[in-house]
Formats: sequence, structure tokens, C-alpha cells
Amino acid sequence: MIYANYAATTPELSPVVVKELCEYVGGTHLNAARNFEGLEAGAIALRSRRAIAKLFNAPDPLKVLFTSGATQSLNMAINGFLRQGDHVLSTSVEHNATARPLEALRKSGVIELDWLRCDADGVLDAETIPKAIRKNTRLLVMSHASNVLGTILPVTEAFRIAREYGILTVLDTAQTGGVVPFTMGACCDVLAFTGHKGLGGLAGSGGFVIGEDAAAHIRPWIRGGTGSRSDSLDMPEFMPDKFEPGTQNTIGILSLAVSVEEILRTGVEKIRERECALTARFMAGLRELKKITLYGTGDPERSVALVSIAVQGYDAGEVSRYLFEKHGIITRSGLHCAPLAHKTAGTYPGGTVRFSFGSGTTEPDIDAMLEALSKM
Ligand SMILES: Cc1ncc(COP(=O)(O)O)c(C=O)c1O
Repeated sequence: MIYANYAATTPELSPVVVKELCEYVGGTHLNAARNFEGLEAGAIALRSRRAIAKLFNAPDPLKVLFTSGATQSLNMAINGFLRQGDHVLSTSVEHNATARPLEALRKSGVIELDWLRCDADGVLDAETIPKAIRKNTRLLVMSHASNVLGTILPVTEAFRIAREYGILTVLDTAQTGGVVPFTMGACCDVLAFTGHKGLGGLAGSGGFVIGEDAAAHIRPWIRGGTGSRSDSLDMPEFMPDKFEPGTQNTIGILSLAVSVEEILRTGVEKIRERECALTARFMAGLRELKKITLYGTGDPERSVALVSIAVQGYDAGEVSRYLFEKHGIITRSGLHCAPLAHKTAGTYPGGTVRFSFGSGTTEPDIDAMLEALSKM
């Protein structure tokens, strides 16, 4: 079996993660801030906050908040920040994790919304942003890279422009966390991350990093017990409690701590270099094949390690099924929860076949995928 669906999830945990999780599962599990011994869960969370802050070059570990993943984080930022009459900008390649909460607010008359148009390869010209800004524009949300086209968006430039206009900036790093170096610093106000892709953690883990000033402007969207200020019916204003009600997913948070520490030992630059080389090999091989359309820029340096294609004469589902049944290759076909990106690329509603690579992908795997496609 060859797994080429890392953009959906990383299927294997690293041995160091498995070892620590097994030790944790075999021990006692205490709730952070709910009893004295519960400090243990708090210590696990702090370890994870420190590793994630370092990964994204964020200044304050206490502003790393845990949720169930990028979807929940984006919903918390979007719904916690926006008010009646606000105008929002996002891009035409967004995942439904961003598109659906924004669209729901638009449909219910709370916000006005514009999608910044990327070209068919998913490239966004940041210079188009000032023209799209209105008096009431308060938020720019965008992905760091498209999960359909692989294209890396000019987030630093886009956010620099937005911030000049006092617009809050929210970044979705689901496709780049742990695999593309990124310095949050003062670049964005909220950085949403997922645990189960490039960060190598368990499904159901993830969170967001919040900038110094942004925390004061975002209301908690989920409220409940925090084990602190229990005399009050209001959420605490301090971090991380303001955005972390309820019992946490400590095992997921531990998986993130161990995996991200390992990523830091390896170095994100090195991981990126390896993935770029695999993507370049695959793209070069595809160009040798007839009847294949490659979507996105076709430039591995401007893309994450994912490639969407179409095979002339077959629909996307048929190609994925053939690859799996005849060659044991796991890809993903269809719309990849991102219909806007397919409308942008001209591949809606049929979708594409997406190959995506990660920690377990090897050069022989890439060659086997090309060989299988050539047979088709
Ligand atoms: C670009 C993008 N954003 C958001 C998500 C959702 O992430 P999560 O699974 O952590 O909710 C995904 C997952 O496929 C994604 O690719």
C-alpha cells in the first residue's frame, strides 16, 4: 500500500510519539486545574504550548490555545470577532472550514463578504487587496496554502497590507504547519493550526495562536468551566482560560508536544526541502505522461507537497479507484471540502485526483505512482 493522502491526514505516528502516548495511557489521567494533581495535565499543555510557540515563532506560549483542530479554531476566531455590519475578505481557494462559517454569517445578514480572486493556479496578487477594502472591512481570513492546488499564498504581504488598514488577520495553517517555515511574530493576529497533518499529532488535536492585541478583541465563542474564577458566571479574561473551557484533550495535546519537539529537532527547513524534492520528482514525471492535466503552479517551490491532476477520459473517482484497486495507491478524489478552489481552478463540480506527500513518502513511492499512472 502506498499512502498519498497526507493533505487529509498523516496516517502514522512517529515512534517517539507512540512511546510517550502509551506511557500516558497506562498511567493516571488528571484534569488540569481541577485538583492539585491535575497540574500534570496543565504541565503537558504547557510543554505543548512551548513547542508550538517555538514552531511558529510566536512570542508567548500562554497564547497558544488548544481546540479540536483548525475547523474549531477558525470558527472561534470568526464568530468571536465579527459583529453586525462588518465586511470580511477571504480568498477564492478557501477550505469549507473558513468558507462555511463566513457564508453562514453572510446569509444571516450579519456580515458582508468578498472573496479575493486567485487565478486558476491559485495564485493571489496581494496588490488587489487595497481595492477590495471598504470602510467597514474588519477581517481578512486566508489559508497559507490551498489544499486543492497546493499553491502557497502571499500571506505575509497580504497581512502587512491588511494591518495597515487596521484589519484583523487570521491565518489557516492546516496545509503548512510543520512543513513550511513560518514566523508568526507580528505578521498575523490569529494562526489556526491542526494537529493531525504536518504536525504529526492525533486527530482531534489542534488549536490557534493569538497575537498580543487580538485576544482583547475576540469574544469566547464556546463558554464553560475553566477551573479558575469559578465564582463568576463570565469567562475569565486571562489567557489561556478565556478560550479553553471544558476538559481538554490531553492525550491529543501530548501527541502534539512530542511530535512538534521532534519536528523542531529535525528542522522545518529540512522537512520542507525533502517534501519539495519529492514534489519536484512527481511533477517532472507527470510532464512525461500524456493525457494528464496538472493543476496549480507546477512549481514545487511555490507549492506544498500536494499535486492535483486530471486524467483525460476518466473522472476523478475512477482514477482514484483504479490506483487503489490495481496498485494499492491511496489518493483522494473529488472536491476536497473546498468547492471555491475548484471553481477557481475550473475543476468544479467534477473535482481532481489529489496526490499528497509527507513523512512516510519515499522516492520509490513517487516512481510507483508515476508508473501506475503511465499504465492507465
Ligand atoms: C486548508 C484546510 N483548512 C482547514 C482544514 C480543517 O482542519 P481540521 O481537520 O483540523 O479541522 C483542512 C483539513 O483538511 C484544510 O485542508
